[in-house]
Amino acid sequence: MIKELKLVNFRNFKEKIINNFEIENFIIWENWKWKTNILEALSQLWNNSITKLNLDDLVNLWEDYFFIEIKDENDNKYSFYYSKKDNKKNYLINNKKSTKKEFREFAHSCVIFSPIMMNMIYLSPTLRRDFLDDTLKSSYHEYEKLLKDYKKIIKSRNSTLKAIHENKIKENEIIFWDKKFIEIAWEIYKYRFKFIKFLEESIINTKEYFGNKVENITFEYKTKIDRNDIENSIKFYLEKNFKRDIILGRTHIWPHVDDFEIKTDWVSLIHYASRWETKSIIIYLKLLEGIFIEKKTGKKPILIIDDLLSELDENHKDMLLKKINYYQTFISNIYEQENTFYIKI
Ligand SMILES: Nc1ncnc2c1ncn2[C@@H]1O[C@H](COP(=O)(O)OP(=O)(O)OP(=O)(O)O)[C@@H](O)[C@H]1O
Ligand SMILES: [Mg+2]
Repeated sequence: MIKELKLVNFRNFKEKIINNFEIENFIIWENWKWKTNILEALSQLWNNSITKLNLDDLVNLWEDYFFIEIKDENDNKYSFYYSKKDNKKNYLINNKKSTKKEFREFAHSCVIFSPIMMNMIYLSPTLRRDFLDDTLKSSYHEYEKLLKDYKKIIKSRNSTLKAIHENKIKENEIIFWDKKFIEIAWEIYKYRFKFIKFLEESIINTKEYFGNKVENITFEYKTKIDRNDIENSIKFYLEKNFKRDIILGRTHIWPHVDDFEIKTDWVSLIHYASRWETKSIIIYLKLLEGIFIEKKTGKKPILIIDDLLSELDENHKDMLLKKINYYQTFISNIYEQENTFYIKI
């Protein structure tokens, strides 16, 4: 559990210490008062980001580095230092330089709840795929590197396609990249399907949030890949799309064109859900993210809830607050709740 947070040159903060954290922490402040900045600092330490900004933008405008440090209940210190000048990141444990891997043993993962995540239901499939990939990154250390390598291979395959199109090289040059692509896409799918299977099995529990209104809820992963024969189905689509891929210079079959949808009584929630249904399902998906991470890492993630409570009606607020008291939680809010612990800044 974290007891204290120290910020130096982070966003608006020149130097700030916030301490005496409990299990559930409400960061209370009026509007436009740096609550998100505090939660962003926590999410950065936990290898995530609420704002998805570059690290450079998180450095105070008049400085060239930031430093974030937390103290756990045994007074161990975990610090993250970033320098804008040379793009350097340093991780420290008890003031000694450590590797990112050692650092992640403690600050391993966080689950972020924010109003933006509603777009996961309303907007593009990219956000839905990010949800799957972010959960997998938090659950398996090796997944982040796998995704990076995968993107590099896609880039190389696409450049090879373009070179073939411009008659600079022969068609059979693609064989090397196809093989590499199949190997890595297969690895990615192996991880993806673990989380998908968990979601398919667990989504039915959302029924409690819909009262007696629905009979059935299903999670459906939309892919052309055959789960029982991943390798051959990727191969099949690569061959089938080869001519089109050459003309367009892009790879058309890959884990990053997949999507998912959630159906209640066989009606798709993506695009059709009411605001109420969207909030319910999203809160539950994020809770499932936390449960999956805990199952796979054996460690509890922290929960970071930014600006969401003011979006929720009493019913949803209750639903969320009842479920989360099992994790250490940081919630920004402009209003005080009853019987809760506050961090007033
Ligand atoms: N790099 C930076 N350097 C200095 N100040 C910054 C930097 N980045 C952001 N800020 C300041 O932080 C402010 C935003 O703070 P933040 O988003 O945390 O507010 P908030 O309390 O979450 O507000 P709301 O209740 O509206 O969500 C900006 O108005 C800006 O003044
Ligand atoms: Mg905010």
